[in-house]
Amino acid sequence: MTILVTGADGYVGWPTSLRIAKRTDDRVLLVDNFARREWVDEIGSTSATPVHPIESRLDAAEETHGLTNLSFVEGDLADKDFVDEILAVHEPDTVVHAAAQPSAPYSQINGERANYTQHNNLQSTRNLLWGLEEHDLTDTHFVETTTTGVYGAPEFPIPEGGATMENQGERDDVPFPAMAGSWYHLTKSHDAANMRLAHQQFDIPVSDVRTAIVYGTQTEETRADDRLNTRFDFDYYFGTVAHRFAAQAVAGYPVTVYGKGEQRKPFISLEDSVEGLAQLALTDPADRPDDHVVYNQVTRAISIVEIAETIADVGDDYGLDVAVEHFQNPRDEDETHKMEIEQDRYDALIGEQAQDFQSGIHDVLDTLTDHADVIEAHEDRFLPGVLEDRLENEKD
Ligand SMILES: NC(=O)c1ccc[n+]([C@@H]2O[C@H](COP(=O)([O-])OP(=O)(O)OC[C@H]3O[C@@H](n4cnc5c(N)ncnc54)[C@H](O)[C@@H]3O)[C@@H](O)[C@H]2O)c1
Repeated sequence: MTILVTGADGYVGWPTSLRIAKRTDDRVLLVDNFARREWVDEIGSTSATPVHPIESRLDAAEETHGLTNLSFVEGDLADKDFVDEILAVHEPDTVVHAAAQPSAPYSQINGERANYTQHNNLQSTRNLLWGLEEHDLTDTHFVETTTTGVYGAPEFPIPEGGATMENQGERDDVPFPAMAGSWYHLTKSHDAANMRLAHQQFDIPVSDVRTAIVYGTQTEETRADDRLNTRFDFDYYFGTVAHRFAAQAVAGYPVTVYGKGEQRKPFISLEDSVEGLAQLALTDPADRPDDHVVYNQVTRAISIVEIAETIADVGDDYGLDVAVEHFQNPRDEDETHKMEIEQDRYDALIGEQAQDFQSGIHDVLDTLTDHADVIEAHEDRFLPGVLEDRLENEKD
């Protein structure tokens, strides 16, 4: 049996691959084209934690955890021939699809990057779904990390999956995954719709895992050896909000909150997201609750101001004097939106959550304080504009 993990060199994909490989003797086949390393390079930033070459990562996995069931293939999933070859040769029983261009700000830089993001993400998912159909692999469980961003920020509590809609006295269940607010997020709305269709037409079992903003630097497996680090980006484009705030705190900058900052965003720890994906990858087909299941992969919704204050609070333990400053909001957004989101199905999947936000931030500051020099050397990357300026200069 083979489990295919795509995006396996990435922030979530790498620790997920380790967790899965540790729990099974099956072959775990990792695929990536190292695009994330290139994007971060392109915007002149770097991961705060050193990201080792894939060969060293695999050596370390074998030496520290005895994992001999991991192998790696480099290739571009947007290339249909490549995907066809992988599926034909390895015939995976499960695909955990974590490959994507995942940055909203990067997808917003210009039309070229919006095109790239939508082409890359949609084409990769379609190649995999159609590939399963065309290679007679429609029993293969397809698990994808989409995003809670597909729901937008509605006024009602976000259900785990679709919603019931009423119009002119009639009611029906609708999927409602298309309220995304960036060119990146919308790729996941399209993926969610394409996965539904692939399930309907080809009968492929699908787990659509709507991933919240992930925080954390370590999992049980990565802690064992520095070579097993996952990446940690803190720049404007690829650093998610809690990560960027934590890096700002480590570099001695105030943490800046736009406006009131009371709007809540959904979060999950890296440890809890890896656990859910491993559980899904290793589920016995007979135990799957249904053949198209949506999970809200969320710990809870947290306000921007709570993130800042938690970092300031935990920062005390690391000798960091973190100021929280409020600035006038340049964005047109509801600063008090109280997002509520259901996650019962995901909670049932992972059992008790392993890491709350406070301990996750401890974990992050613990790691980042060892790499303060890297963050300080790239502190101008907290702000947008580096790549835009370069593109502007190239035009002149
Ligand atoms: N990190 C988060 O907070 C978060 C939140 C919601 C959803 N997600 C989703 O989870 C998944 C993993 O996110 P991440 O944070 O680990 O991002 P990441 O960029 O670190 O990982 C994605 C990996 O996919 C690879 N990749 C991209 N396009 C590829 C292609 N065409 N062929 C082969 N490999 C390709 C990249 O090189 C990268 O290593 C993505 O689908 C992302 O959209 C992440």
